[in-house]
Amino acid sequence: MQHITSEQIAAMEKLYRLNLINSVTGYKSANLIATRSDEKGANVAVFSSVTHLGSNPALLGFITRPTQEVPRNTYKNIKESNYFTVNHIQKDMIESAHRTAAKYEEEVSEFQKTGLEEEYLDSFYAPYVKQSTVKLGCKFVNEYFIKENNTVLVIGAIEHIYYDESIQAPDGWLRLDDSETVAINGLDAYALPSLLDRFHYARPDEEIKSFFNQKD
Ligand SMILES: Cc1cc2nc3c(=O)[nH]c(=O)nc-3n(C[C@H](O)[C@H](O)[C@H](O)COP(=O)(O)O)c2cc1C
Repeated sequence: MQHITSEQIAAMEKLYRLNLINSVTGYKSANLIATRSDEKGANVAVFSSVTHLGSNPALLGFITRPTQEVPRNTYKNIKESNYFTVNHIQKDMIESAHRTAAKYEEEVSEFQKTGLEEEYLDSFYAPYVKQSTVKLGCKFVNEYFIKENNTVLVIGAIEHIYYDESIQAPDGWLRLDDSETVAINGLDAYALPSLLDRFHYARPDEEIKSFFNQKD
């Protein structure tokens, strides 16, 4: 088995290290964050760092890279407007979604360049991605500067949720393989996970029970 140490990581060629470290922490969520500025219009970009923070209140977070060196339109628009949307990337959108990572000028909307369409729902300020069938409307709540690598954790409150009801189980759970939501492997690879099983709450010394393969 390959064994790599911190000294070797530090000495690695930049791109090799980027690929290794971005993939070794496992599959990540695949989302498009869409925002809007009154002056510069709509913006959309791919993010692999969106994560659940808590369900009551319903909060999510994402990490944005350093804002000093490169202007970050997503971050800037959120700070200006307080609103953003999180849109699942699905199987038939991966090329358009990946294209949003290209460095376009602030005036250029990635929506026009990628074939992804803006959609406005229920008077929410930020645009949703029309093609995405699972999407969230979020309000900026707070941000935390991470001094160790000059990144920012942006926290959003989930105000709206949209999905096709066919993917939902009676207990609320969304079956994401039915929506063909993808996962990100590293920085540039997209995977389509397939569900293996779903288990009931684990209790000490009790057998793990499947939702699908009931034994009794
Ligand atoms: C697969 C993938 C995942 C990415 N995840 C993030 C991320 O979590 N945070 C981030 O700041 N940038 C991430 N990026 C880079 C942004 O998509 C890219 O910098 C984009 O141009 C930012 O757009 P903006 O300037 O309009 O905000 C990712 C890029 C790719 C290809």
